[in-house]
Amino acid sequence: MKVELSHIYKSFGNVKANHDISMTVEAGTVYGILGENGAGKSTLSKVLSGFITKDSGKIVLDGMEVDIKTPADAICAGIGMLHQDPLDFPSLSVLDNFMAGRSTLGKKRTKTSNDRGDLIRELRQLSATFGFDLPPNDRLSNLTVGERQQLEILRLLSLGVKTLILDEPTTGISASQKTALFTAVKQLAADGKSIIFVSHKLEDVEELCDRLMVMRQGQVIGEAEVKGRESNELASSLVDMMFGRELAIPAKHEINIQQTEPALVIQNLQIDGDRLSLQIDKLTVNEGEVIGLAGLEGNGQQLLLLACAGLLKPNAGKIRISDVDMTSRAYSNFLKAGIGYLPADRLQDGLIRGLSIHEHFMLRQSHSGFLINWRDTRKFAHEAIETFNIRGKPSTKVERLSGGNQQRTQISLLPDHLNLLLMEQPTRGLDIESTLWIWKQMMARCEKGMMILFTSSDLDEILQYSDRILVFCGGKVSQPIDAKTLTVDKLGQAIGGKFA
Ligand SMILES: Nc1ncnc2c1ncn2[C@@H]1O[C@H](COP(=O)(O)OP(=O)(O)O)[C@@H](O)[C@H]1O
Ligand SMILES: [Mg+2]
Repeated sequence: MKVELSHIYKSFGNVKANHDISMTVEAGTVYGILGENGAGKSTLSKVLSGFITKDSGKIVLDGMEVDIKTPADAICAGIGMLHQDPLDFPSLSVLDNFMAGRSTLGKKRTKTSNDRGDLIRELRQLSATFGFDLPPNDRLSNLTVGERQQLEILRLLSLGVKTLILDEPTTGISASQKTALFTAVKQLAADGKSIIFVSHKLEDVEELCDRLMVMRQGQVIGEAEVKGRESNELASSLVDMMFGRELAIPAKHEINIQQTEPALVIQNLQIDGDRLSLQIDKLTVNEGEVIGLAGLEGNGQQLLLLACAGLLKPNAGKIRISDVDMTSRAYSNFLKAGIGYLPADRLQDGLIRGLSIHEHFMLRQSHSGFLINWRDTRKFAHEAIETFNIRGKPSTKVERLSGGNQQRTQISLLPDHLNLLLMEQPTRGLDIESTLWIWKQMMARCEKGMMILFTSSDLDEILQYSDRILVFCGGKVSQPIDAKTLTVDKLGQAIGGKFA
């Protein structure tokens, strides 16, 4: 189905979320919409899929103008959308979720067990086409984000959509699920479906799309053909369009192990987690070194970080920091030794919901006496907001900040001097600008000797910033591998259990 949007306008109060947007998507192609957070991508997607009514503009499908006012209108016209924040029903079964939306669309209600049998067959058949494995009777809440997404795609296909909009689908899914998703998308395009792929991630758009447009502040900045372009040249022109200027990727400092001191030494470490035990025979990390912990989530990376942070006692083995045995010491000693921890779940473990930026700074100050010096802490909060470029005010509650600004706040609360920083998924869900900014801060700290151990499900990020990499697979850990000797493909294979 050919999709044409012309001169779409949509404002929220005085925010022009979509300002004169026109685009054409040919049948059988994948069209990318790329832009920083807040650029207006989700708004445009929702206009096309009937979740938001436009202020003005035209939607033309296969040459015919259509009037889309509700999501049901859009589905009838053959347009379905996979939302950035899932709209499914976690407490219902996979099959019930698969059925959702049928009765409103004039498809017959599914009351009898026969009908359910038919639906199970349909679900199985569709799953098989894409190599998905979705047990019909499982509760949806037992599925991973990636599997819920797969189900939603199948549900939309079974409702007959010919145009599929995917809004930021690669956030929060594993590397292998991303591969499965991309394969399915290519298969759908080859079948003649039109795919609109919305993302703030350059590499995803480059890998998948035939054509794309870049949005910034509610407007179309430019369009580009992706196929057949030299990757570096395309990437730099897209970054230019997204941000209106060049963004430099922070360079990794070269570590000369002969000249630096081993400052973290781990020996015969054994840690029992809820689901697996982790065993590391020996790891020596030098001052200024960055160690990437690669692996699918839940393969023991977090256990290592927690043990090094003093938040989890190992069963056996030793952790020495700057020649001091820390293994069985209290958490406060780890803090005194200059060890910092940035958890993945910023609102659950890192920041305190309900408190403002100012109040977080107040908690960080060490107090002598009973009185809190609000004036001084307010000054610190103001300075941090300036220095760390946090989009918020001292009185802004942390849960109201965007993901990138929550992470900037977490980083601004770290002590100025740290010997070792443990980071979990430091840039997950962040836009490129915030990601590069965070790594620039980190690289500057490493120049001064700080060591980093970090996890990321983004293999490019691991390769880009690590000096050496440990691969985690089912509690087993590889020898440290020099990052320069690895590629994304090799690392991906190692994560899947094939140690190089
Ligand atoms: N329902 C809404 N009410 C008010 N403002 C909104 C609403 N949805 C989006 N916006 C604003 O519109 C702009 C574009 O947002 P969005 O389309 O979500 O961008 P993107 O998906 O590219 O991150 C932002 O400034 C956002 O705050
Ligand atoms: Mg969005």
